[in-house]
Amino acid sequence: PHILVLHGPNLNLLGQREPAHYGHSTLADIDAKLVAMANAWGWALSSLQSNAEHQLIDAVQLAPKQGVTNIIINPAAFTHTSVALRDALSAVAIPFIEVHLSNIHAREPFRQYSYFSDMAQGVIAGLGADGYFLALEAIYRRFSRPD
Ligand code: DQA
Repeated sequence: PHILVLHGPNLNLLGQREPAHYGHSTLADIDAKLVAMANAWGWALSSLQSNAEHQLIDAVQLAPKQGVTNIIINPAAFTHTSVALRDALSAVAIPFIEVHLSNIHAREPFRQYSYFSDMAQGVIAGLGADGYFLALEAIYRRFSRPD
């Protein structure tokens, strides 16, 4: 397994940005813990944060060439706007889990629609940084389970 973790716009500010919604962990903390989990299983995990839609799209387009088997994505504000990023995930057909730190369903109406959820294997929202770890754990359980 090779996991790609994608973080959308403004998530570089995690830890300082609206901690009531997004918690105190920094993105570096989260990525380091994800890498440690993956490495303990002998898996590869790479992550990218970008404020630019095209960089996230480019990363998705490259993923099949890099042997990425699963994507964990927090599209951040692009959740609610980006048909283009959705189309990229649809094009590569790599299974993905959608993660949000905050419970988007308990916030403003404009956050309640996601362009990604109907295509995602699963969606985790409202559990803070744990959402990323639970997503990775879910992928681990899927790979460990004979089917
Ligand atoms: C977010 C929720 C989005 O509505 C928001 O634009 C973000 C972060 C979350 O992780 O809770 O930037 O995806």
